[in-house]
Amino acid sequence: MYIDVEYPADKAEFYRVLSRQLDLYTGGETDRTAALANFSAVLARAFPHANWVGFYLISGEELVLGPFQGRPAVSRIARGAGVCGTAWLEDRAQVVEDVGCFAGHIACDCNTHSEIVVPLRGGDGRMWGVLDMDSVLPGHFTDDDRRGLENCVEPLARFA
Ligand code: SME
Repeated sequence: MYIDVEYPADKAEFYRVLSRQLDLYTGGETDRTAALANFSAVLARAFPHANWVGFYLISGEELVLGPFQGRPAVSRIARGAGVCGTAWLEDRAQVVEDVGCFAGHIACDCNTHSEIVVPLRGGDGRMWGVLDMDSVLPGHFTDDDRRGLENCVEPLARFA
């Protein structure tokens, strides 16, 4: 059963609690789909202003939609397209304060105002997918969130 927690306002504390929750609900799972599904569900509850939380996984020359929480979304993204494809092409996280100003942003929900995309990497550092989070608030994600989320996804390296 899922036990809701009170998430602290302080960012460092927030990410400590979040990492514990993620570990609790995904740490012991060996199936990638099951782990990513619960990972997105835990994140969605931790970020009440996030209207979409989920994964795109590298498959050949495309990112293919993985487990997520939110409205139906585009299922395939080319390398270099949108925020996710840019994260893949540039091999680094993207923090977008205003998606309206991001050239090529792929709009899946007109309520989305800001977005963060964080690479999923294997033990060898190679990217195998991305975590994508959208928010209804402009400028919702910061560099602290990038660092926090990059730490949160590290244990997922076992699924590369
Ligand atoms: N915003 C993404 C597309 C996926 S939806 O947000 C779920 C992008 O531009 O890469």
